[in-house]
Amino acid sequence: MDNITKFNGVDYTNTFAARIGVMHELVKEVLSKQISNWDHVIDIGGGPGMGARIIDSLGITASVVNIEPSTTIQDVPRLLHVKYNPMQMSLKDALNVRIPDPADCLLIVSAAHEIALCNNSSASKNKEIFSSEINQFIRKNLKPEGIIVVGFPNYRERASPAEIAKQRRITESILGHSHPPEELFTIEELSKIFGTQPSAYIKRPMNIDGGKPDDTILMANVAVFKKMDISDRINKIDRI
Ligand SMILES: C[S@@+](CC[C@H](N)C(=O)[O-])C[C@H]1O[C@@H](n2cnc3c(N)ncnc32)[C@H](O)[C@@H]1O
Repeated sequence: MDNITKFNGVDYTNTFAARIGVMHELVKEVLSKQISNWDHVIDIGGGPGMGARIIDSLGITASVVNIEPSTTIQDVPRLLHVKYNPMQMSLKDALNVRIPDPADCLLIVSAAHEIALCNNSSASKNKEIFSSEINQFIRKNLKPEGIIVVGFPNYRERASPAEIAKQRRITESILGHSHPPEELFTIEELSKIFGTQPSAYIKRPMNIDGGKPDDTILMANVAVFKKMDISDRINKIDRI
């Protein structure tokens, strides 16, 4: 499957987004504490403007750029507070494009694993390339005091292979595809990519089938990283 076009033609808002509502609720909770009026936000892999929709529902007057390669970007949200700028391109392409304003907040929701997969190599190599590209993007487009908010799915810690196989069958029947654990990110991997521990981190079971939360091993995670902490590390390395 070509990962860049995987979501083309999908009625994302009414199908996929409705199922991963727990993830979006967690992102909303975190953003309500992290962003303010007049902030510039860049949503990477935002589908049909999901970041813009969440921020608008908080009543925050922000600008949101959506970097999204698939045709889901053509489903433009109706917004009351957010100034929305959809840019149909991949993260790779965006590295060579001037983004209008440096961001206060970079948002990546349920997208890091999909972006990594576009590198069409092994799971670990894909993540290595993603790490290099997202850090280049951060250096270029995030303000020094900016934050990175990452919403990412994975499986409950210590889930057995049988539990994962069962969950993958459920996910495939509901969302059309699923991922082996090595394709999804862990908080440890993201902390390594950004070279720092998150300043906030929450997780919750994501019952995409609407069943009891305790019956699922699929987790929605949201972590916040501060560019300042990343820069601190870079400065320390520079001084050695
Ligand atoms: C599961 S969806 C998440 C959409 C949205 N962020 C949300 O919260 O529902 C993953 C998104 O990543 C996008 N994507 C895949 N490859 C990408 C790439 N190389 N650069 C940017 N976005 C990409 C897909 O097209 C898709 O819209």
